[in-house]
Amino acid sequence: MIQRIKGFKDILPGEVELWQYIESTAKKIFDNFGFKEIRLPILERAELFAKSIGENTDIVEKEMYTFPDRKGNFVTMRPEATASVVRSYIQHKMSGKDPVRKFYTIGPMFRRERPQKGRYRQFYQINAEVFGIESPMIDAQLIFILTILFNELSVTDVKIHINSLGCQKCRPQFKEILLNFLRSKTESLCSDCLRRYEKNPLRVLDCKVPSCKEATLKAPSIIDSLCNDCKKHFKTVTRCLDKLQVEYEINKNLVRGLDYYTRTTFEIQTASLGAQNAIAGGGRYDSLTKSLNGPDMPAIGFAIGFDRLAEMISAKAAELLINPDLFIAALGEKSQAMAFEWINSLCFRGITTEMDFSDKSLKSQMKRADKLGSKFVLIAGDKEREKGAAILRNMTTREQLAIPLANLIEEIETIIKK
Ligand code: HAM
Repeated sequence: MIQRIKGFKDILPGEVELWQYIESTAKKIFDNFGFKEIRLPILERAELFAKSIGENTDIVEKEMYTFPDRKGNFVTMRPEATASVVRSYIQHKMSGKDPVRKFYTIGPMFRRERPQKGRYRQFYQINAEVFGIESPMIDAQLIFILTILFNELSVTDVKIHINSLGCQKCRPQFKEILLNFLRSKTESLCSDCLRRYEKNPLRVLDCKVPSCKEATLKAPSIIDSLCNDCKKHFKTVTRCLDKLQVEYEINKNLVRGLDYYTRTTFEIQTASLGAQNAIAGGGRYDSLTKSLNGPDMPAIGFAIGFDRLAEMISAKAAELLINPDLFIAALGEKSQAMAFEWINSLCFRGITTEMDFSDKSLKSQMKRADKLGSKFVLIAGDKEREKGAAILRNMTTREQLAIPLANLIEEIETIIKK
């Protein structure tokens, strides 16, 4: 038997209703806040991600599905959506028509990480990206949108961590300060951090290896090194969040695993998912559009881990199952032929109707109706047909009613839609 690939999964009926519910809730909120949907390719040129996420990140160094296509050009199955949205913004010269754009996109991402609960090699994200707004108010609004979505989905047990990573003006100075601190801690750093800390010391702050976490507990805070503009920006973000009554925690070690961030970064964490505790993350990437040869354009966004979010509210899945309104138990060839016409008319009119196509006994058809959780059963046999009627049974109250064949569809529609 051919099995699915490790780290990839099937989302089956029974679970997929929950995914649809999350998706429609998110879409409704994005509509309310003026976001437009954008759909982008899964395959992009490899260099797009190397240049945006950063050569020295875990994603680019060891997690990307990159391979040469038939002409030898390296392509990558997107590990995230931000780089692709930026590529599209630049390619379609969107800044010329209207630099302010608010997008959302939902879809699969690919990272070859070690699979475990909550961590997959194909996973899904709900992304929001905003271009052309420098004001810190939009930073707070994006975080607010996340809290609204979580509230709407009854996701509790979440904590918002925020930090500022400064800008190209103030970050180099902080890097020096941090490097000096890390040089005295090299014996505690993991091999990845040891290899990269000279190039990108901030990554060490984000490392999940316990000895690195321990070593950076007392690391200097980037907040203390922010330039006046970045300080002011961050202060306004927190002031707006206070106004919106959003609770958050300032986390000086929150760096995030992608190199494009500037100023505000944030992550939503939960204690109820075990080791994979981040359900959403995001931040500003004010220099990314320019570094990919586009215009100098401030931007900010977030991505929610769809799989993890669905896991957090998996108990809701049972509520979302749609049972048939009606099951037609047709006995005999003539009744089957009539039932076939009826189910198609009824389904067309929005009444979910099922029948058994194999002329089984009444008992076995009733069993199937029960299994499907049908609300009504229409019993149509020779005996009933001779009397010019079929019997409609309410499966909850067990009440039975003779429905004349002459205007059966209309009668059933009235009863079921009541
Ligand atoms: P990220 O933190 O790499 O950020 O991913 C965002 C979320 O995707 C994570 O918080 C997590 O819930 C989920 N996620 C990541 N990897 C996996 C995995 N292997 N399995 C399951 N879920 C996973 C980004 O991707 C940025 N592009 C976010 C962003 C948008 N920043 C600005 N705009």
